[in-house]
Order: sequence, then C-alpha cells, then structure tokens
Amino acid sequence: MEIQLWREILNPYELAVKEVTTKFNHLIKEHHDRGLYCPIERVIGRVKSISSILDKCQKKKVSLENVEDRIADLAGIRIICQFVEDIDKVVEIIRNRKDMEVKQERDYIRNMKSSGYRSYHMIIYYTVDTLDGSKRLKMEVQIRTMAMNFWATVEHSLQYKYKKNIPKHIRERLLNAASAIIMLDNEMASVRSEIMDAQILFQNQANIVADILNNIQNLYNVANKREIAKIQDEFYRVYAMNDIEQLERFNKQLDMIAEGYRAQSLASED
Ligand code: GTP
Ligand code: MG
Repeated sequence: MEIQLWREILNPYELAVKEVTTKFNHLIKEHHDRGLYCPIERVIGRVKSISSILDKCQKKKVSLENVEDRIADLAGIRIICQFVEDIDKVVEIIRNRKDMEVKQERDYIRNMKSSGYRSYHMIIYYTVDTLDGSKRLKMEVQIRTMAMNFWATVEHSLQYKYKKNIPKHIRERLLNAASAIIMLDNEMASVRSEIMDAQILFQNQANIVADILNNIQNLYNVANKREIAKIQDEFYRVYAMNDIEQLERFNKQLDMIAEGYRAQSLASED
C-alpha cells in the first residue's frame, strides 16, 4: 500500500488521539480547579506506527484492507493512575461518557496475564469529524497504575530486545518483579485514604475560611468599625492556630453575632 494512503487512513485516528487526550487532560484540570482528588495521574496517546501495523498484520494474518476492522489499537490511549482503586473510577467515568461507547473490556488486573502483565483494557468507539464527514472508529484504552506501567514498559523493551523470545531466567525475574509490583500497589493503597483525608480536610478548611470572610463582610453593614476590627484581629489569631475546630467555633460565634444584629434590626422595625 502507498505511504500516502496510509496517511489518509491514519489521519482520523490521529485526530481521535488528540481529542481524547485533550479531554482527559481537561478532566484532570477540572478536578484540580475544584480541589478534588483526580483518579487520573496522567494520560498519553499514540497512533500505531506503520511498521508496527505491518508487523501485527503479518502476525495475525490480516490483509491490509481489513486493518481498520481487525486492529483495534491503531489509536491508543494510556491512562496512568496513582492507585489501583483509581482504575475502577476511571473505568466508570469512561462507561458514563456520552462521547465514548464501550465495545469491549478486559480486566488483566484481576486476571493477570501469564507474562505478569497487568492493566485494564477497554476498546471504545469514538467519532471524529473530518473533511470527509464524520467517522466512528475504535480506540484502545489501557488503564494502569504507575507501578504497572513501569513493569509493562520494561517488559516491552525486553520483548523487543529478544524479539518476543525472552529467555526463561529473565521471564522468571519478570514474574518476581510482577509480584513485587502487586505488593507495592497494595502498600500504596493504604496510603491512598491518608491522601484523600488530607485533601478533604484541606477543602473543608478552605470552605470554612470562605464562610468566615463572607460573615465578616456582612457584618460591615450592621456592626460598628471598632467591633469589626476586633473580630478581624480575632480571626487572624484563630487562623494562626492552624486548627480547624477553632475555626469552626469562631465561625459559629460569628453566626451568633450576626443573628443578634438581625434580631435587633427586627425589633427596631416594630
Ligand atoms: P494484541 O495483543 O495487541 O495482539 O491484541 P489482543 O487482542 O491480544 O489484545 P490484548 O489485550 O492481549 O493486548 C493489547 C495490548 O496490551 C498490546 O498491544 C500491548 O500494548 C498490551 N499487552 C498485552 N499483553 C502484554 C504483555 O504481556 N506485556 C506488555 N508489555 N504489554 C502487553
Ligand atoms: Mg495479546
């Protein structure tokens, strides 16, 4: 097949990879903007190189006319997570998206491959719009932790080096390494909740401070300057304590002061 024709075939896949990568990167940004923990650490994408496509066609005895039908990873997205638990969250996000339709799922995390490979695979349908109209194409999404990704990258290089015939003693080492990765991911899982707790605590504190500032702002309308100055000094003092309970207590006091002013103004209206 002519190189020019390959370019034409692969063009929509290139667009799909760019769009989907951008969409997941934006999702990361939305989480960060809202101070939420994001189950996606990073996303990468690629279009399969022509030489890998030729290799795969040869291996799978696929004729070149059937490339798009038979090869599901012309477009590939890899989503890297920090923790194993995040993977299910990402799978759920993808299942719920309106712009992606799941064709197939393979769970090589609960069912590790004999090589030691672990990842969650999804084949999705995604539609792009090009000069030739819209085109619905398949993409492979691989979801894995940073540790799983480390293992797969190293093993992939070794497969390449040994032309897919990795010597037995190295394969055994890789299986040992795969067990170590499982242990590492399990250890990290216990740290995950700590991280989430810390982030929620941080978020709560930010919300209380916003509430306090709002309350003080409102007091400007009703209280006298001396009282407000006193309240502000008190706020700085409490804030410096770095204790969320003290902040909460202070905020309740402000609520009570505001309530007092409201009652006074109601009484004066009578
Ligand atoms: P291919 O393996 O691509 O021929 O298609 P398949 O239908 O068998 O899908 P499978 O889910 O087995 O693999 C899809 C992709 O997962 C591969 O192209 C690799 O990127 C990755 N993969 C699968 N098995 C392994 C493995 O043992 N080691 C590494 N490093 N990657 C793997
Ligand atoms: Mg395979």
